[in-house]
Amino acid sequence: MSRLLPGDIKNISRDIAEYDEIFKSQTGKTMDALCREIFGITKPESLKTAVVPITSGLGTIERFSASVCDILRHIGADAFVTEQTDVFGFQEAFLKKAKLIFAADDNAYVAFSTTSRVCSDNGYATGTAFAAALNSAANCSGQTVLVLGAGPVGAAACEYLSSNGARVEVYDPVSEKSRRLENDNTAVLCELPKLCNYKFVLDATPVGDWISENDVCENAVYSVPGMPLSLTPKAAAKITLIHNPLELGTIAMYYDCISRME
Ligand SMILES: NC(=O)c1ccc[n+]([C@@H]2O[C@H](COP(=O)([O-])OP(=O)(O)OC[C@H]3O[C@@H](n4cnc5c(N)ncnc54)[C@H](O)[C@@H]3O)[C@@H](O)[C@H]2O)c1
Repeated sequence: MSRLLPGDIKNISRDIAEYDEIFKSQTGKTMDALCREIFGITKPESLKTAVVPITSGLGTIERFSASVCDILRHIGADAFVTEQTDVFGFQEAFLKKAKLIFAADDNAYVAFSTTSRVCSDNGYATGTAFAAALNSAANCSGQTVLVLGAGPVGAAACEYLSSNGARVEVYDPVSEKSRRLENDNTAVLCELPKLCNYKFVLDATPVGDWISENDVCENAVYSVPGMPLSLTPKAAAKITLIHNPLELGTIAMYYDCISRME
């Protein structure tokens, strides 16, 4: 995973309600409704949830914990950021009877239950939810979908799309990664195809500004968890673009945990 920059997330708390309206206009569902559908949760849940800032490695990212907390509050969770960090913060979360804990360091962003042996990984949750968003926006069943990048996010997206009836084509320059995903509904591409031949694309690459307006076809739908954004502003303006740096993956982690808690 690449590290978020403060600028990527600085307005999430302010803009989340407005962004959710845009997301709904693109997919037909709010982020909450989409994620509950993925994980089979019929009604919103309000679990006490602690977000613990972690200072190890490169340290905390400005507004990361506050943004995660506000995303969770947006969907009705009883979320708070612990006053203490690291192990002291975990202790505070337990003492305040949090049912879920969210925490991230340089290598992982996870949510876990304090009452069941359940943990959700942000890469898996993000790939799954962006694939579901693309499916909801474009009804991909029976359609060809190009997946770019076969890291944890792209792999989860391939898995979701192929098991929901899409014909997936996946490309990663590190071919061992994409080859692991090959199955009856998932073909592995050996080189980057002409992107303008694809109407539905899930982009899970960690490189910015490499897809230009000439690369994308009119009316294409791109679901892009990748950070920084791969599309140039002119390319983004030409298509339907589903893209957010933290919101959808965080909500998916919450319901992924709840769906497996006893
Ligand atoms: N939006 C979110 O909520 C969210 C959440 C998690 C991760 N992410 C981002 O999603 C991206 C993917 O995450 P990951 O953990 O799978 O990363 P990763 O680095 O493990 O995998 C990215 C893959 O993309 C491949 N790649 C690079 N350039 C490519 C290209 N031009 N075409 C095709 N493949 C290419 C790399 O070889 C690599 O295998 C990262 O940018 C990460 O920061 C976003």
